[in-house]
Amino acid sequence: MRQEDILVDNFGRTVNYIRISVTDRCDFRCVYCMDEEMQFVPRAKLLSLEEIAFIARAVTELGVGKIRITGGEPLIRRNIIKLFRDIGQLDGLDELVLTTNGSQLPKLAGELKDAGVKRINISLDSLDHDKFRRLTRVGELDKVLAGIDAAMETGFEKIKINSVILKNRNDDEVPDLVEFASTRGMDISFIEEMPLGVIDEHDRAEAYYSSDEIKADLERHYTLLPTTETTGGPSRYYRIVETGTRVGFISPHSHNFCDSCNRVRLTCEGRLLLCLGQEHSVDLRQVIRSHPGDMDRLKQALLRSMDIKPKGHEFDLSAKPVIFRHMNMTGG
Ligand code: GTP
Ligand code: 5AD
Ligand code: SF4
Repeated sequence: MRQEDILVDNFGRTVNYIRISVTDRCDFRCVYCMDEEMQFVPRAKLLSLEEIAFIARAVTELGVGKIRITGGEPLIRRNIIKLFRDIGQLDGLDELVLTTNGSQLPKLAGELKDAGVKRINISLDSLDHDKFRRLTRVGELDKVLAGIDAAMETGFEKIKINSVILKNRNDDEVPDLVEFASTRGMDISFIEEMPLGVIDEHDRAEAYYSSDEIKADLERHYTLLPTTETTGGPSRYYRIVETGTRVGFISPHSHNFCDSCNRVRLTCEGRLLLCLGQEHSVDLRQVIRSHPGDMDRLKQALLRSMDIKPKGHEFDLSAKPVIFRHMNMTGG
């Protein structure tokens, strides 16, 4: 591939990873992700599965080797398996991965593996039924646990648990969540809450529980050794000596990782977002709907988008939110 045909931004960072949100809808309403009442994108504004596959082909031809499908909850979109199959066949793609809340995995895990999905990240913030319900508002823990079992039986290369930890809500569950992952041979990442979208349910600054606090909690039970391993994502990884489990920390507040950013995001409406914590974007839906099938034009728009990729985010939990889009638009 020629140098001018790959995605490199003005800070010299090469983009080789895209996260695609296929729907903003979800069967849960996690308190840090959504408000209780949400307005969802009307169908006509959503990219079709064919349009998403077209964009996926364009980015892989520009050197993107990793595609993560996210949501909302990606697995509730109708005919989603077809998209996984189409993307799974793209030349140049090294990794097709998924982030999900797990609820649909009993039904879909086998088809996802057949379509070429290698690794799955499953969100799980609590192992207590009542707390799980309070954090997800409507979610059922048993469904997610059944989803995790189904994914394990299907035999993916790796399953990772993602836990967003909020002070006084689930911070007491950190060791139990690690034990849950350890006994199942899974990785686990702890995530600091990010101020995306206005939520009424809690004060994000008050609920802040830093990665360092989580790490200290764990060190009361286990020995943690830093590793240089990476999955190409923002997690800093440690190994638990006693169990061999890999524990990651995603710390947008306490350990900013923007310098090594290698990714862009596509919202379900076809906005290419150049940073999770900024509004810089390119309307790819407009590009492909005004020139259907024009791959060159789409690739030019993608290459030009690199000029506006910002240096990084400026999350500030104590200020009023500046990003009004909720996480379900981008899937993290
Ligand atoms: P792998 O490392 O490939 O397993 O993926 P990941 O951890 O990047 O993906 P996942 O979908 O599991 O995301 C976990 C969390 O990381 C989510 O809360 C994301 O919002 C967060 N995250 C991923 N990329 C970025 C980023 O570029 N900036 C920020 N601030 N957060 C990110
Ligand atoms: N801050 C941090 N993580 C979030 N997620 C959803 N909303 C937020 C937020 N505001 C997490 C989900 C899922 C991942 C994709 O993003 O729990 O694990
Ligand atoms: Fe749904 Fe994931 Fe948002 Fe929870 S965090 S409401 S599971 S999209």
